[in-house]
Amino acid sequence: MAAKFQDVDLYDYPDYYDVIFDDGTSEEADFLESIFTEYGRPKTERLLEPACGTGRLLIELAKRGYEAHGFDASEAMLKHGERRARGVVTLPYQRMESFQMKGKFDAAYSLISSFKYLLSESLALAHLQRIAACLKPGGLFILGLHLSDYDRKWPVHERWVVERGGQHVICNTRTWPADRKRRRERVRNRLRIESKGLSAKYHESSWEFRTYDARQLRRLLSKVPELAMVGAYDFGYDLSEIRELDDSQEDIVLVLRR
Ligand SMILES: C[S@@+](CC[C@H](N)C(=O)[O-])C[C@H]1O[C@@H](n2cnc3c(N)ncnc32)[C@H](O)[C@@H]1O
Repeated sequence: MAAKFQDVDLYDYPDYYDVIFDDGTSEEADFLESIFTEYGRPKTERLLEPACGTGRLLIELAKRGYEAHGFDASEAMLKHGERRARGVVTLPYQRMESFQMKGKFDAAYSLISSFKYLLSESLALAHLQRIAACLKPGGLFILGLHLSDYDRKWPVHERWVVERGGQHVICNTRTWPADRKRRRERVRNRLRIESKGLSAKYHESSWEFRTYDARQLRRLLSKVPELAMVGAYDFGYDLSEIRELDDSQEDIVLVLRR
């Protein structure tokens, strides 16, 4: 680690997380609503977001009239979310692989690779089976993740710069080449946070994701026949840009129907 960076857990700092990701929230909510209309039950009202973090998307969808429920395994993210949600969203501590929620849902979604925190096939399968069991007939699971190109030999780098509420945050994320044998990839996130009148903070967090190429994802999904794939898109969130579950692009959003 470079000397000035402090080693932290990204999810212990939910306010910085929200500064980075809030920008995309309304576009993601628009996309989800168009998926509900195109593929969903006649009425989509009750929503579930596993690994919802601070609930930024649930809060937006609750404002749009949905009954929004989520859960997460980070107490800090949930606490921050509860403050923001002011009672409009339920946010219990639960884990993707073992969650139990009351009642059935019209749709569930998980958009930005949170699913890849499930580090084994059995954990991923347990999650999908639980999702299938908590959806109403015809209910949707919208699953977005980055696929891995096992032939890539160099790291991929993404950079965002966000200015909000007197804070200037530079976010650099680096993903190292996927290890085909271990089915893992290493991700490092570095934040430089400048708040008015204070000296800059430097945070670094690293974690591992489970990796999937199209064939591996297809094989996993075949073990959950209750969820049928009815559509696939990319992170452009454009409903006119339908794609296949293949390795032509790394980002994919699957529409699975119960
Ligand atoms: C990239 S954030 C996504 C948060 C939210 N879905 C969003 O779009 O802003 C990933 C989240 O997954 C949560 N997480 C990781 N592993 C988990 C698990 N096994 N069960 C529940 N949540 C988990 C983390 O605590 C974190 O809040």
